[in-house]
Amino acid sequence: MYNYKKIVDDLLKWYDRHARSLPWRENPKPYYVWVSEIMLQQTRVEAVKGYFNRFIEALPDIEALATAPEEQLLKLWEGLGYYNRVRNLQKAAIQVMEDYQGLLPADYKELLKLKGIGSYTAGAIASIAYGIQVPAVDGNVLRVMKRLAGSYDVITKASVKRQMEEILAEVVPVRAGAFNQAVMDLGAMVCIPNGMPLCEKCPLAKYCIAKEKGIQMELPVKEKKKARKIEEKTILLLEYQGKYAIQKRREKGLLAGLWELPNLEGKYSKQEMLSILKEENKRADVYELGPGKHIFSHIEWSMLGYHIILETPIEEKNYIWVSKQELQDTYAIPTAFSIYLKD
Ligand code: ADE
Repeated sequence: MYNYKKIVDDLLKWYDRHARSLPWRENPKPYYVWVSEIMLQQTRVEAVKGYFNRFIEALPDIEALATAPEEQLLKLWEGLGYYNRVRNLQKAAIQVMEDYQGLLPADYKELLKLKGIGSYTAGAIASIAYGIQVPAVDGNVLRVMKRLAGSYDVITKASVKRQMEEILAEVVPVRAGAFNQAVMDLGAMVCIPNGMPLCEKCPLAKYCIAKEKGIQMELPVKEKKKARKIEEKTILLLEYQGKYAIQKRREKGLLAGLWELPNLEGKYSKQEMLSILKEENKRADVYELGPGKHIFSHIEWSMLGYHIILETPIEEKNYIWVSKQELQDTYAIPTAFSIYLKD
């Protein structure tokens, strides 16, 4: 078995020189580490910085998060995707207020009891905020470790992740937060996921079996993902007297409970849109907004959009009619629709 202990000193030395300067690192308060780690799941560091600063300014502590209106939370998260992450963040904040006197527990097992906190996030908070010697293993860490070991283990398997957590539990040094973040930074900047890793910059190159054997690009091994289901949609930017229609999505499934532009299943031509309006005795101008595509984790939307300026009102009880300003400031509309909301 690969001996990971030998990498620790060189890795920490590299981190001391090359650590990225990130807003949540300046002052690693448990709350800051927590919020940043939840944002960083599925979202790149560069994209997260702005969101993090806005979030912390609006909701500076766990109590503020616990009591924030959902609409504000979703607005702060708008564009980050995976909106249940922020709903769970709030549920956990309420748990922390009720069960832990408003303080995130300084204990790995207690952290795991909180909604939305799994082994990776518990490890990250425990090590970075509290200096507890536990690992924080995500896909990036697995990539670095499996390349070092030259291992073809399938990293998408839960058992492989669990085993890595057990192995690294014996390796994490006293500077636990620095160690875990060093692996993350190495994975982001040197041992990169797509394309050839920058081995000439790697402080661990001399310990790396993948490099020695020239198999960096073969590792890590992942299970093949299922192809995304493609859904065709027609998106309607309905305007009446300077206001725009939005509606709330169902409470279950994709983009649950978020606001959206009205839309139809399937793709309609401009002619078809005009006939539908005519059948309903609506007078309107119809402008093509063109095709669009949005990729979610398991689904892809293939869209066509129309800007429909109504001269006669539409009675549709699900719609609310809002101004451009309100669309910008108040309602969280998922990124999938944003190409149809540009000026
Ligand atoms: N990715 C996830 N968590 C991170 C962290 N704390 N530092 C750098 N990259 C990360």
